[in-house]
Amino acid sequence: MFYQVYPRSFADSDGDGVGDLGGVLDRLGYLELLGVDALWICPVMRSPMADGGYDVSDPRDIDPLFGDVALLEDLVAEAHDRRMRVTMDLVPNHTSDRHPWFVAALAAPPESPERARYIFRDGRGPGGDEPPNNWPSIFGGPAWTRVTGADGAPGQWYLHIFAAEQPDLNWDNPEVVADFEQTMRFWLNRGVDGFRIDVAHGMAKPPGLPDMARVETKMLVHDDSDPRFNNPAVHDIHRRLRKVLDEYPDAVSIGEVWVDDNTRFAEYVRPDELHLAFNFRLAETAFDAAEIRVAVDNSIDAVRSVGASPTWTLSNHDIEREVTRYGGTGVGLDRARAMILLELALPGAVFVYNGSELGLPNVDDLPDEVLQDPVWERSGHTDRGRDGCRVPMPWEGRRPPFGFTTAEKSWLPIPPQWSELTVETQLERMDSMLSLYRMAIELRGARPEFAGLGIDWYGSPADCLAFRRTGGLVCALNASAVPIPLPPGELLLASAPLEGGMLPVNAAAWLV
Ligand code: GLC
Repeated sequence: MFYQVYPRSFADSDGDGVGDLGGVLDRLGYLELLGVDALWICPVMRSPMADGGYDVSDPRDIDPLFGDVALLEDLVAEAHDRRMRVTMDLVPNHTSDRHPWFVAALAAPPESPERARYIFRDGRGPGGDEPPNNWPSIFGGPAWTRVTGADGAPGQWYLHIFAAEQPDLNWDNPEVVADFEQTMRFWLNRGVDGFRIDVAHGMAKPPGLPDMARVETKMLVHDDSDPRFNNPAVHDIHRRLRKVLDEYPDAVSIGEVWVDDNTRFAEYVRPDELHLAFNFRLAETAFDAAEIRVAVDNSIDAVRSVGASPTWTLSNHDIEREVTRYGGTGVGLDRARAMILLELALPGAVFVYNGSELGLPNVDDLPDEVLQDPVWERSGHTDRGRDGCRVPMPWEGRRPPFGFTTAEKSWLPIPPQWSELTVETQLERMDSMLSLYRMAIELRGARPEFAGLGIDWYGSPADCLAFRRTGGLVCALNASAVPIPLPPGELLLASAPLEGGMLPVNAAAWLV
């Protein structure tokens, strides 16, 4: 099981209200108790933080907000002592606009080697006043920003698929490839076990940068015909990066790949490309048995042709938290409990986003003035962005900031009602979400019934599902409106107490 740490929101060790690497180091015992095999730490490199660290100004240093390189090395060593691996988040598609390369590009003339590291173009229309094509930024507004020439007159435009502070790199430029390889080796040489690769279906741009047929500005809407992503040349890039990883035995890469078509998705996890790729189907699926079954089959089928491992994820730092998605505290919590049992019953790698194990809901009523996601500004205050799923972890005590920080306030306020959701409270309660996670993860690691790569579906009542792992584990899930009989077998674990021997609604159970 991979555990995703969003470092700003995990634990603060230096009292500035923002989580940091020292906080992760302090809490490794907690992660060990939870049963984590590997960490994915979201970006901690030097960054002006226009997009929470996904705007990197020096990829081979740690931002002082989070610590320093020596601290990262300590964290890796200590995690290894506890038999946990550590993967970092690398951002190949773009840099920060404060990266020395981009600063140099702005100072240099068109067609210069400095500009050739990014994607600069002349504008269209009279005077070049219009952007070079019609691409929108994922965060709202156009994907192009015009710069001012040395003479003070309006000059060329540069491409930024995300915020204007995140100029896209030109991956046709060998210097860009070489620099990224250097970054990978820098961290691998310090003991890091691999990388989550941000926007791994980006990087390569189509020749001529053609207009989009249909301009869609909503975030995370992915359409396989979108010219901004999933261009065939991206696979040459992944093959290059894999060669570097292969110099380090056991190093692993996990790509963020928003590609729907299974054949094209599978291309990313061919034996000489990424090791794993996130499949977001479960994260996009409602609590509906038929839809869940399709998503599970689909995720397994997507990687079968190339012999890669499936991946499972209910949420991350970009997606509404699952408790909220499934209906909010109460029913949503019950369903999130059922879904983690479903996920952990499946073959492959499970990714848990920090706070999921506490059943945290999204915080949708953050005051306007604390919002930090660039989406809020770029959408002209129509989309509140992703801060609601990034609220810090409640650790202990009765009042915010619940041991997250010694500062009076955390960078995003924690709701006072989360006093019931703290780690401290949940560790003491056998019926808590945290206890369910711990028991489930332990059983998954210990029992032989979790072996094998295949699953077979059983017949099950309407709006329910049941499957059997090759190793013998049976998982049943009740998404109907009435309790259902359990399949035959010995009950190993259930997400809710049985009702007269029946599996209640919004619950799942494991049997052997
Ligand atoms: C990925 C990250 C997201 C970030 C974006 C730009 O989608 O998960 O948080 O904003 O890339 O780097």
